[in-house]
Amino acid sequence: MNDTKIALVTGANKGIGYEIAAGLGALGWSVGVGAREQTRRDEAVARLRDAGVDAFGVPLDVTDDRSVAAAADLIAERAGRLDALVNNAGITGGRPQQPSSVDPAVIRTVVETNVIGVIRVTNAMLPLLGRSASPRIVNMSSSVGSLARQSGPGGETTTGPVAVAYAPSKSFLNAVTLQYVRELADTNILINCACPGFVATDLNGFRGVRTPQQGAAIAIRLATLPDGGPTGGFFEDAGVVPW
Ligand SMILES: NC(=O)c1ccc[n+]([C@@H]2O[C@H](COP(=O)([O-])OP(=O)(O)OC[C@H]3O[C@@H](n4cnc5c(N)ncnc54)[C@H](OP(=O)(O)O)[C@@H]3O)[C@@H](O)[C@H]2O)c1
Repeated sequence: MNDTKIALVTGANKGIGYEIAAGLGALGWSVGVGAREQTRRDEAVARLRDAGVDAFGVPLDVTDDRSVAAAADLIAERAGRLDALVNNAGITGGRPQQPSSVDPAVIRTVVETNVIGVIRVTNAMLPLLGRSASPRIVNMSSSVGSLARQSGPGGETTTGPVAVAYAPSKSFLNAVTLQYVRELADTNILINCACPGFVATDLNGFRGVRTPQQGAAIAIRLATLPDGGPTGGFFEDAGVVPW
């Protein structure tokens, strides 16, 4: 079996996902650039290759069963296994998101991408992760999904704005992650949630204060954990995020 490590990063055509792909590539990994739109995907792969990354495009819409199944087939054919899955693709559902006036359709759309999308992709990739000697799953969450922080005294800088679709979707993702950790406890898969901090990307109209590269660092660390590393945790650069 080829020694080169293989990763799939979802939503890797821009923002934090792109920088996760670039960072893993700089470590010598071969990186599948999961992206739903062909031009954006091709451009990202070309930029990564120009930077010396062994990148390959993976057509992938996390809300589409057939797209996800085809992505697993593509990786199986190309590499025969997967060493790290970074579930990074995510949406906010836009603003405002006041609980008293939200359109339920917005909540469904956000959950379909941020939660069910992660389940769909993870389940399609588990057989490939099972063929890795040191498989890792990183779910890109957010500290706005921390119920401890939402209910604490921190103010909007730690909770984000009131967002009844986005913030609970990340709490839901955290809860789902722990169910995978429990089911897969007897395997060697390390599964963790990451918070990138408040990063300037399209997601927030570039209001974030960190660079996408800074935001990518925690996911790269969790994707490359040594054997015996933590599992079932929620981490940001500064350490553990409370659930
Ligand atoms: N930015 C922050 O401050 C921040 C903070 C905490 C957590 N996060 C999380 O970090 C992750 C990355 O966010 P970002 O800030 O880098 O945002 P971004 O620049 O908007 O990137 C989001 C990525 O997800 C992709 N995506 C969305 N829906 C998809 C779908 N159905 N199928 C496949 N790909 C899809 C987008 O693809 P398209 O280009 O095709 O739309 C894009 O590549 C998200 O999970 C987000 O919730 C971000």
